[in-house]
Amino acid sequence: MNAAAREVRSAVAVAHSNIALVKYWGKADEALHLPVTGSLSLTLDAHPTTTSVAFGVEGDDVVILGGVEAAGRARDRVVRFLDLVRRRAGIDDRAVVESINTAPTAAGLASSAAGFAALAGAASLAAGLELAPRELSRLARRGSGSAARSVFGGLAVWHAGADDATSYAEPVAAPEGLDLAMVIAVVSVAEKEVGSGEAMRRTVETSPFYPAWAACATADLAAMLAAIADGDFARIGAITESNALRMHATMLGAAPPVAYWAPGTVALLAAVRRLRAEGIACFATIDAGPNVKVLCRLGEAEAVRDALAVLVPEAEYTVAGPGPGLVARPGVLA
Ligand code: PMV
Repeated sequence: MNAAAREVRSAVAVAHSNIALVKYWGKADEALHLPVTGSLSLTLDAHPTTTSVAFGVEGDDVVILGGVEAAGRARDRVVRFLDLVRRRAGIDDRAVVESINTAPTAAGLASSAAGFAALAGAASLAAGLELAPRELSRLARRGSGSAARSVFGGLAVWHAGADDATSYAEPVAAPEGLDLAMVIAVVSVAEKEVGSGEAMRRTVETSPFYPAWAACATADLAAMLAAIADGDFARIGAITESNALRMHATMLGAAPPVAYWAPGTVALLAAVRRLRAEGIACFATIDAGPNVKVLCRLGEAEAVRDALAVLVPEAEYTVAGPGPGLVARPGVLA
């Protein structure tokens, strides 16, 4: 068949990154990305990823990330995801995937969450699958666990589940006036030395603290859901900060240890404690990288950013509010 006669079906999707307030750290099933514990996050209005997928093109799958054709492991990860969608849709067409990600890749800013949520939205629609949000969440999970949560805007809980069918995220209603925000403090955009997948595996297999982490994370999730239902910001913040520190503690117990912090990370943690002592309600969280995200009230976010910038001037700051869920439409990138 020549290129003109071939039917190309394409779709575009936009998804935003999310930051977990109760973290996901460790898989119960490596292949299916089933987590050991449930988690809960806030989708942000910063750092969207826009991805287009066109099925029915000539030749092999082509993956273009940030304008550059991907090869090796980055391409393989996308192609494996496309295979999943193709199997599900009963098609064998090759695809061109083009993705523009506005977050620094692999620096603990959850770029894979927005990336695989957008890919799930665009690839499924282009393949002719019409998936409900829960199904999209399950699909996105197969690309990157945290992507399951970026299908939804605002607060989302990812139920660990017992199998593929029961491991998905869903929105959590925030009471009127809770108005959460995050100040993102970037101390390094360097690629991390150990990716989250390998770091999780090592932690689960070798850290003597892992069982304690899993028990804490389960209790934290229940406590967090109750604190959100009560609209109790101080409790939400306290759980957020201690949960992140415990996640890093369990990683430090791995052999060899997984240590993501940089000097700026420690400086920011101290700055957040100092602001709290001065009566500003803000709480830190850290993912698989050295950067710090500071949870605060939307109305105070700029004041928190300004105060942090005085205490830790070497970091770069972005204020983010709650962001929208995944949006997909037929068509091509504008
Ligand atoms: O989805 P992954 O494999 O990139 O793992 C994300 C892990 C953390 O960001 C550290 C925690 C989380 O729940 O997002």
